[in-house]
Amino acid sequence: MATSLNTKRTIIGVLSIVFLAVLLIALWKETQRAMPDYKASPIVDEGTKHCIACHSEKGAGKVIVEQWKNSKHAEVGVGCLECHAAEKDDIDAYEHEGSLIATIVTPHDCARCHEYEAEEFMTSHHADAGMIMGSLDNVLAEVVEGHTAFNDGSNPAAASGCWQCHGSRVEILTDEEGNPAYDDNGILKLDPKTWPNTGMGRINLDGSKGSCTACHNRHHFSVGQVRQPDNCGKCHMGPDHPQLEIYNESKHGINFHAHREKMNLEAQPWIVGEDYSAAPTCATCHMSATPDQPVTHDVGDRISWTLRPKVSEKIDAAELAKYEAAGEPFPEGFLTWEQRRKNMQGVCKQCHTRGYVESFYFQYDNQVVLYNEKFGKPALALMKSLRSNGFLTSANFDEKIEWTYFYLWHHEGRRARMGASMMGPDYTQWHGNFEVADRFYMELVPEIKELIAEARKHGKYEQAANVEKLLDNILNNELHQWFLGKMDPEELKKRKEAAKQFRQRYSED
Ligand code: HEC
Ligand code: HEC
Ligand code: HEC
Ligand code: HEC
Ligand code: HEC
Ligand code: HEC
Ligand code: HEC
Ligand code: HEC
Repeated sequence: MATSLNTKRTIIGVLSIVFLAVLLIALWKETQRAMPDYKASPIVDEGTKHCIACHSEKGAGKVIVEQWKNSKHAEVGVGCLECHAAEKDDIDAYEHEGSLIATIVTPHDCARCHEYEAEEFMTSHHADAGMIMGSLDNVLAEVVEGHTAFNDGSNPAAASGCWQCHGSRVEILTDEEGNPAYDDNGILKLDPKTWPNTGMGRINLDGSKGSCTACHNRHHFSVGQVRQPDNCGKCHMGPDHPQLEIYNESKHGINFHAHREKMNLEAQPWIVGEDYSAAPTCATCHMSATPDQPVTHDVGDRISWTLRPKVSEKIDAAELAKYEAAGEPFPEGFLTWEQRRKNMQGVCKQCHTRGYVESFYFQYDNQVVLYNEKFGKPALALMKSLRSNGFLTSANFDEKIEWTYFYLWHHEGRRARMGASMMGPDYTQWHGNFEVADRFYMELVPEIKELIAEARKHGKYEQAANVEKLLDNILNNELHQWFLGKMDPEELKKRKEAAKQFRQRYSED
């Protein structure tokens, strides 16, 4: 009897202790899980275990492993080798501590698991961002500012400037016999003239175009980072495409900065109007999901105009012209500018009403058309006329007027249009329209007049008359005749009256 009571007591005692221990362990686990920087241990295969064992010891490798451990990839078991493993035929493959690997991980490698994203990206304008060799801008880097042959072809102005945004053509270093060169650790040497580089349209050794790391910073590959406006701002900033500055000036940017912590940036999925509502970021409008649109990795899917050229056109104009000229029907899935605009408006409509959004587009279209008609087309026609009448040498940028014109369309004219597209009034006005007008009336026109006078001095009467006729026609147009003192008298009177009233706000004239 007594023993059985004692046994019962012992059993109850042991069970209680076990129960308490389980409770404590569970509590401890939960507390740990709730800690802000908690991460489950990564699941890794043998190959990756090997990489980590050595790389996590010291220096750069340690930091890389730490970053990776905090990534979604570590959580789901995508280890070092899953990305860095190479095939025998890969031109950049090298034997490294028992594995065949490559340093650069290209869209082709990511595509093994992210086929859909890679496909969309590779057909976008972004993937073509490295194809700038024939552009006027490129003459600047390779001739005017720099020199392609400088220091054994290192082309510094392009390599540290243009290509860091647009992408280089990656090359490997070779020894005297033309074989790949390796360092003391047996690591294949990539040509330092072309790498490090994570430019958008990088041309990779495996033939693929682009770089996913242009946006997805290694080794976190975090969606929270890639949705930040600053992420796009590495490239989309500065005098010729100040999208980041425009965004920061806009109410959208203001609200983002004011309510950043309510943006739920790490959520997956991240649907505007459902997972967040405080403000849109660049990603929201150009890439991310809405209740009825999936994420897109083609940043052109929601754009109707192109604001980059001397004269803006609809984004599908060049493609349409190609099919029309060939008499071919449009391929299936061809996105017209109207459809692209609908896509973008689908984003706006999560936060604004239909009428509001359509009225915004009315204002935006008007600004683009104003720039085109008042300055873009006339300035282009004048420059063409100077060239065809033999006023300009064949070299670019060796004459003042070529710089004047470049500022007008490439910097100021873009700013005016881009400011209007994303609600940045200061970029539309003071950094945009104002500077375009100043450049046109105070530089371009006087410089053309000088060139005409100069041509006459050298007996080129006919050529001078051709250009002069065009200039006269342009200035006598209703958009410009004010400049010739030919403003409509009625309008002049109204302006004087308004100016008088305005001045009454202040004590002085
Ligand atoms: C025994 C140690 C060791 C192991 C194991 C190891 N690495 Fe390395 N790894 C190194 C060292 C050392 C370097 C050179 C570091 C330096 O130059 O600063 C390096 C460099 C690299 C580089 C950069 C090469 C470059 O172009 O600069 C990559 C990528 C890399 N390792 C990936 C891996 C992967 C993937 C694995 C697993 C298959 C792995 N490593 C296994 C020691 C190791
Ligand atoms: C999701 C794919 C992915 C995984 C997983 C991954 N890497 Fe990388 N790694 C990259 C990319 C992309 C680059 C950038 C290469 C480039 O474009 O220049 C890179 C670059 C590197 C470099 C050279 C970077 C430098 O700054 O010197 C090293 C070293 C490296 N990885 C090691 C590792 C190790 C070790 C692991 C595992 C802990 C790992 N990587 C896991 C994609 C990956
Ligand atoms: C071996 C397969 C594999 C490779 C290679 C791979 N990934 Fe992933 N990646 C995954 C898986 C699995 C997930 C988790 C998917 C999920 O959560 O739905 C993921 C998630 C991601 C995410 C979302 C992260 C998050 O926080 O939700 C990004 C971004 C990403 N990968 C980018 C890349 C890029 C860029 C490369 C190439 C440099 C790459 N991946 C290579 C398998 C891979
Ligand atoms: C800070 C990053 C950055 C640098 C540096 C840079 N670009 Fe760009 N470039 C861009 C961006 C972003 C665009 C697209 C702008 C837009 O659509 O609003 C662009 C547009 C272009 C375009 C127009 C492409 C088209 O399809 O119309 C050309 C050509 C070009 N850049 C060439 C160059 C050259 C050449 C250099 C060096 C002299 C250079 N860029 C320097 C970021 C950069
Ligand atoms: C222009 C910047 C940019 C580039 C380049 C880019 N991504 Fe993304 N990616 C994003 C953004 C922004 C998101 C987050 C979308 C959202 O809000 O859910 C994203 C999300 C992802 C995700 C998470 C799943 C999803 O679709 O939401 C994966 C996987 C991914 N990207 C893979 C890639 C791969 C692979 C490449 C290269 C082929 C690539 N990305 C290139 C900006 C980029
Ligand atoms: C590494 C530099 C870089 C980053 C980062 C970058 N872009 Fe770009 N982007 C470019 C360049 C260069 C072009 C012009 C490509 C061309 O036309 O050749 C461009 C073009 C575009 C275009 C015009 C597309 C078209 O079809 O005409 C949009 C929209 C755009 N980017 C949005 C974004 C967004 C949104 C992000 C961030 C999520 C981003 N970009 C990040 C370099 C970059
Ligand atoms: C509120 C939505 C919204 C936000 C936020 C936004 N954009 Fe835009 N973006 C637009 C609209 C609308 C256009 C014009 C579309 C059209 O022409 O139909 C545009 C046009 C562009 C273009 C095309 C310029 C060209 O050369 O044709 C680029 C590049 C771009 N945005 C980049 C960015 C970047 C980078 C950010 C963040 C710093 C950003 N956008 C934030 C809505 C947005
Ligand atoms: C996530 C919600 C969200 C999205 C998506 C969004 N907006 Fe907005 N928008 C706002 C907020 C918030 C404001 C600031 C309202 C205020 O002034 O109080 C704003 C303001 C504006 C303004 C007024 C600017 C000013 O200076 O008064 C315009 C115009 C506008 N948005 C147009 C658009 C267009 C066009 C799109 C799509 C291309 C868009 N918005 C997408 C939230 C959004």
